[in-house]
Amino acid sequence: MIITCALPYANGSIHLGHLVEHIQADIWVRFQRMQGKKCYFICADDTHGTPVMLKAEQLGISAEEMINTAYTEHVADLTRFNISYDEYYTTHSQESQELVYQIFQKLIDKEKIITKPVEQFYDETKQMFLPDRFVKGTCPKCEALDQYGDSCEVCGATYSPTDLINSYSTISMSKPSLKTSTHYFFKLSDFTDFLEDWINTGDRLQPETKNKMQEWLNSGLQDWDISRDKPYFGFSIPNDPDKYFYVWLDAPVGYMGSLMHYCNNNGLDFYELWNNDNTQIYHFIGKDILYFHALFWPAVLNCADYKTPTSIFAHGFLTINGQKMSKSRGTFITANNYTQSGLSTTLYRYYIASKSSSKIEDIDFSLDDFTAKVNSELIGKFINIAARSAGFLNKFFANRLSSQMPDQSLLNLIIGKQDEISMFYQEREYAKALRCIMQLTDEVNSYVDQNKPWVLAKDAQQLPLLHITCSILINAFRLLSIYLKPIIPELVVKIEEFLKLLPLQWSDINTVILDHEINPYTHLISRVDPAMVNKLIELNNSNTK
Ligand code: MSP
Ligand code: ZN
Repeated sequence: MIITCALPYANGSIHLGHLVEHIQADIWVRFQRMQGKKCYFICADDTHGTPVMLKAEQLGISAEEMINTAYTEHVADLTRFNISYDEYYTTHSQESQELVYQIFQKLIDKEKIITKPVEQFYDETKQMFLPDRFVKGTCPKCEALDQYGDSCEVCGATYSPTDLINSYSTISMSKPSLKTSTHYFFKLSDFTDFLEDWINTGDRLQPETKNKMQEWLNSGLQDWDISRDKPYFGFSIPNDPDKYFYVWLDAPVGYMGSLMHYCNNNGLDFYELWNNDNTQIYHFIGKDILYFHALFWPAVLNCADYKTPTSIFAHGFLTINGQKMSKSRGTFITANNYTQSGLSTTLYRYYIASKSSSKIEDIDFSLDDFTAKVNSELIGKFINIAARSAGFLNKFFANRLSSQMPDQSLLNLIIGKQDEISMFYQEREYAKALRCIMQLTDEVNSYVDQNKPWVLAKDAQQLPLLHITCSILINAFRLLSIYLKPIIPELVVKIEEFLKLLPLQWSDINTVILDHEINPYTHLISRVDPAMVNKLIELNNSNTK
């Protein structure tokens, strides 16, 4: 199967909001891989468009230079959060360009491309057409000053940039003029029946998404403007060098370009892989980009004779302490700031999983809740199982587990939950999976309290029983580690070293380990220290300056 996350824009840093999606997808991919399924986990930087071009200009560097720097940072950030991409590439690639041209030719051959004049604001000083977001002015409805060209943040009205009163270009501050230019359009409206059918077959969309799509279809599809005038950073349109493909045409093709790059480097045939009947294609995306993924993308793929996505998994937005992420409010936490604060990325992965479901729900990253939750659950309940048993194994039994365990009912209880937990992972109900796993850790901890190893350790006659009790606990810890591995892979690798185990697979859940030597217990992970949280807040505040 091919699994993708939305391609992050190259003009900004990876932040905790982006990571929601990378973590949710990575958990799913790791779960599939643990079951022996072949996954191609693919992503890339989305490098084209006006904002990238303008930002590079502002920095006094070329767009290529800017996207290269962003690429290095993005890869480092994602690696630190243990996102296990098979390929993380760029849309500014030869493979993407080849695919864009080839797809565009198909759309032309099928007579789905038309040209039409478009009247648009033009910045005479800067000599460029202005995307809506680069025009500001007074809201035509409530007269609030400095509102964007597409909508008013004060009264919520939506309008076109030409409706603004006293409009100005945010690039040169001059008054824009209206100018006409010819644009290329994809005849999306011709795909209404196809899309109607597409959204209603298979498990393509979550129920709430399907309703939204149906509304869009019912209100009638507009042809899609896929070109932009120069100056633009992107792929120029063949035989029309002053025009470029709109970034949203080439961005999803970037999924394919990235996979093609991977295939070329690994002796695989991209076309055979993508279009194979047995290949499934899954896109993890945020709710804000559904329109592109569930309407334009399947229509374009279908028209170009490519297989369309099997499912689109949309998620909600991350808020910080109940607030929208915003630079000026100091709630814009970059991946880099998070790691700089000293907090382990494992803890963030755990927290996001504990709040994730298959629904399009927003997730709040509340620093207090985060601290309380990971300290009490991950450290207090889970890690503690090892901490409470390994010391005795070391002290009395040379780190070797007992060769028999007469009563395995505790372990059977854990093993018995595999189907339920597996189903929760498969359905991306990670919060439910964790709730179930944490109930099991409660059972294990009450087993410790009932069997009191610290009391057994005081009586030489009870040592055989202590040996069995601690061996059961280490086995319980191992089983729980299997269940938790998709969420906290880095920690589980440390646990595998501690327990001297080969990389744990899902099927290992049906086995127990006896007469097996482990390593002495060493520190596995640190709790959230309030000092780290304070550092995180400090780093963020300095960000805004
Ligand atoms: N470049 C496009 C995607 C092209 S896909 C062919 C884009 N980039 S983005 O950087 O703005 O967003 C990348 C992903 O991160 C999107 O799925 C978006 O929904 C998600 N998120 C951005 N901010 C987010 C939050 N605050 N919370 C959760 N997800 C967020 O869109
Ligand atoms: Zn208004």
